Amino acid sequence: MHAIAGVLGGDDEGEAAGSLLVDGQQPESARGRVGLLLQDPDSQVVLARVGDDVAFGLENLRVPRHEIWPRVTEALDAVGLDLPLDHPTSALSGGQKQRLALAGVLAMRPGLLLLDEPTANLDPGGVLEVRDAVARVLERTDATLVVIEHRVETWWNLVDRVIVLAPGGGVLADGSPDDVLATSGAVLAASGIWVPGHLPAVPARRSTTGVELVHTDGLSVARNRRAVVYSGIDLAVHAGQCVAVTGPNGVGKSTLGLTIAGLLKPAAGAVRAPWLADGLDPQPHSWRSRELVTRIGTVFQDPEHQFVAATVRAELAVGARAIGLDDAETDRRVDELLERLRLAPLADANPFTLSGGEKRRLSVATVLVTRPPLLVLDEPTFGQDSRTWAELVALLSGLLDAGSGVVAVTHDTAFVDALADERYGMVRMPHPESAR
Ligand SMILES: Nc1ncnc2c1ncn2[C@@H]1O[C@H](COP(=O)(O)OP(=O)(O)OP(=O)(O)O)[C@@H](O)[C@H]1O
Ligand SMILES: [Mg+2]
Repeated sequence: MHAIAGVLGGDDEGEAAGSLLVDGQQPESARGRVGLLLQDPDSQVVLARVGDDVAFGLENLRVPRHEIWPRVTEALDAVGLDLPLDHPTSALSGGQKQRLALAGVLAMRPGLLLLDEPTANLDPGGVLEVRDAVARVLERTDATLVVIEHRVETWWNLVDRVIVLAPGGGVLADGSPDDVLATSGAVLAASGIWVPGHLPAVPARRSTTGVELVHTDGLSVARNRRAVVYSGIDLAVHAGQCVAVTGPNGVGKSTLGLTIAGLLKPAAGAVRAPWLADGLDPQPHSWRSRELVTRIGTVFQDPEHQFVAATVRAELAVGARAIGLDDAETDRRVDELLERLRLAPLADANPFTLSGGEKRRLSVATVLVTRPPLLVLDEPTFGQDSRTWAELVALLSGLLDAGSGVVAVTHDTAFVDALADERYGMVRMPHPESAR
C-alpha cells in the first residue's frame, strides 16, 4: 500500500524489483491522485481541530476556499463522525480517530483509494456505515479501491478481485471473490483468513466463577473532571468470568476500562476491589503502580501507548520482572508466548517496527505474561487473522479457567460469542455537544 501511494521511500531505504505505475506514472508523481488511509489512525491526525484536520488535505490540493467547508462537512457526515468542527482531535476515541482519518481521505476525492484495515476500531454499525460511505464514493467518482482487510466479509460484495498474500511472500489466491471462495475457501480458512462460512473453532470454557474481584457502584466516568462521559454504571467481575463491554464509538468504553483498571479516578460513585486490594484501600485508583501491577493488567486500545522496551523479548520481560519472577520462569513464559502468538521470529525487533496486528498481540502478551488476577483489555483482537485470533482466545480462556477475571472492551462479536459470560452494553446518551 505504501509503495502504491509512493511513500515507501527510495533506493537508500530498501530494494525494489519489477515495476509499479499509477496512471502510467511513477507513484511519487501521482501522489495527488492517491488517498492512503494508514492502519494506525493516530499517525494520520495532523491538526488540532476536527474540521481543520479534514480541510488540511483539501488546502494542500488547492481546492477553492468556498468548496472546502461543504466538502469537509459532507465527508464527516459520510463517515458518521457527529462532532462539532472545532472538537479537539486530541479528545477522540479510537473509533472516532479512524472515522476522522477516513473523512480526510474521502474529502480529497482521490482517483485511487487505499484503505488499510479501515474498520478495525469501528463498532459493528459503523463498519457497515463506513463500507457504504466508501461504496457511494466509488459509485459517484469512479475511483478505484484497494482495501486490506482480515474480516473480508465486510467488503466481499463490493470488490471485484481478491488477492490473498502468502506468509513469507507469494500469492495464495487471486481471482473474483466467488472463484476464490469456491476454489480455495478451505485452504484460506486454514491459513488464517476470516473466510465467510469458515469461522475459527474455539475451545470450550469451564464456566465456574469464584470470588468477586471488582465491582462498580453508581459509577460515573470522565477523562477529565469537567465532562462526565457516562454514568450510572453498576457491574461486577468475578474470578473466572469474562465481562464484555460493548457499544458505539465514543460512548465511553475505554474511559470505563481505564477507570476499572485504576488509571482514571471515578467522576462519581466508586470502583471497589476489596479482595484484590488485600489490605490496601479498596479503590484501585488509589493504588501505586507497583501495587497495581500484581493485581490488574491493562491493555490499552492503542498498543503503542504501552511499549517501553527496545525489543519484543525485553518488552515481555518487563512485567515479569516487575512482579518478581526469576529469570528462568520469565524466560519460560516469554518463550511460550512468543511461540504461541507467532512473535518468535520478531523477538529481537523493536516493538514500534512491528505490523499493526503484531503490535496488538505483543501488547496483549505483556499482560498475559504476568497472569494477573484481573485483566482489563481494550480491543484485544483487532487486526488479527483467524489463527492469531484463535490463539489469543485460547490464551485468555486458559487464564479464565485458572481463575483470572477479564473485562474486555470490544467491537468483535466473534470474541464476545467465544469468551464473554456477560455483556455490559453501553448506549449513546444525548450529548449537548453532538449537534453540529
Ligand atoms: N484523551 C481524551 N481527552 C478528552 N476526551 C476524550 C479523550 N479520549 C476520548 N475522549 C472523549 O471521551 C468520550 C469517550 O471516549 P472513549 O475513548 O471512552 O470511547 P470508546 O467507547 O472507547 O470509543 P471507541 O469505540 O471509538 O474506542 C468520547 O466522546 C471522546 O471524544
Ligand atoms: Mg475505545
